[in-house]
Amino acid sequence: MVSTFDSEINMTPEEFRMIRDFIHEKSGMYFAENKTYLVKNRLQKRMAELDMKTVRDYFYHVKYDVSLKEFNRLMDLVTTNETSFFRNEPQLKSFSEEVLPLIVDEKQRGRGPKSLKIWSAGCSTGEEPYTLAIMILEKLKSVNGWNVEIIANDISEEVLAKARRGEYSGLTLRNVAPDVLRRYFTPAGDLYRVNPEIKALVKFSHLNLSDQRKISMMSNVDVVFCRNVMIYFSEEVKKQVVRGYYNALRPGGYFYIGHSETLHGISKAFKLVYFKNALVYQKENVTAEKTATAERTLATSRPVPTAQTATSADSGAARAMELLSKIKPINVKK
Ligand SMILES: C[S@@+](CC[C@H](N)C(=O)[O-])C[C@H]1O[C@@H](n2cnc3c(N)ncnc32)[C@H](O)[C@@H]1O
Repeated sequence: MVSTFDSEINMTPEEFRMIRDFIHEKSGMYFAENKTYLVKNRLQKRMAELDMKTVRDYFYHVKYDVSLKEFNRLMDLVTTNETSFFRNEPQLKSFSEEVLPLIVDEKQRGRGPKSLKIWSAGCSTGEEPYTLAIMILEKLKSVNGWNVEIIANDISEEVLAKARRGEYSGLTLRNVAPDVLRRYFTPAGDLYRVNPEIKALVKFSHLNLSDQRKISMMSNVDVVFCRNVMIYFSEEVKKQVVRGYYNALRPGGYFYIGHSETLHGISKAFKLVYFKNALVYQKENVTAEKTATAERTLATSRPVPTAQTATSADSGAARAMELLSKIKPINVKK
């Protein structure tokens, strides 16, 4: 075991920029100068394992490793993977009590096969997609007759391995209600194991969100969850990733970002929907929107945007309401 003192590495500003720019180019994550210590801290142990003395040596090692093994290792080190079951209750309530019923009703009324496609992008150790699976099962009672697909991915192989195991203990379970714990988990020693019926709904895979080619292969998604992931991305990468989500969503599909995040300055493509529990972005359903606008135009000579559907045209007002909602809960959806 190497002591912290022995393994203390020196990182010049130039070395920091080399590794920082490399991480940004490959993953979208951007570390500003004030994160120098964090990057150094996270590299330290790995460099000691590899017996490397300088960050420059490590940089060339990771850069020219065509197997990408070291790059994946680096991603395990520099990502922040904090998560928990039922994280941010208002957002999840809006999903289970408002968005999901709308989607399910719509699909039940339609003639096509009944399917639900949810994407948990940046799923960390699996709590978010498993939470969504529990909510979907609670709503549908049985998935018989439905094709439910929860696609969950992350750039870190380490967190994905834990997600696939589906075994949890401690604080991450703090928001799980006792009856939910009893019905969807099995105690195993100190741990709780996610039950197979929940596991079967989630497909974990490795994906780098800044890989535009792979993202462009996603389509017909009903809801995208990308919460607390893009906060680590540079503006240019955020714009690119959000464009990818927009294209992946079906018309009328919903988009959740972290409750402290905003698309302000990133994208005007979505409209902001004011549900009782939270604000949710939505890809406009062009046909439905056109009909609604035509009806409004017939009813009044000057269509007035409603509180529920602030479109990009009134994004200034939307932003103001978004800010207001953070200070005082709003309840405009009837
Ligand atoms: C803070 S966690 C958020 C987990 C979950 N969405 C939640 O809100 O609880 C952020 C996750 O995003 C992942 N991530 C960061 N950059 C990524 C990228 N370029 N592609 C895929 N995942 C990424 C990290 O590995 C990390 O597990």
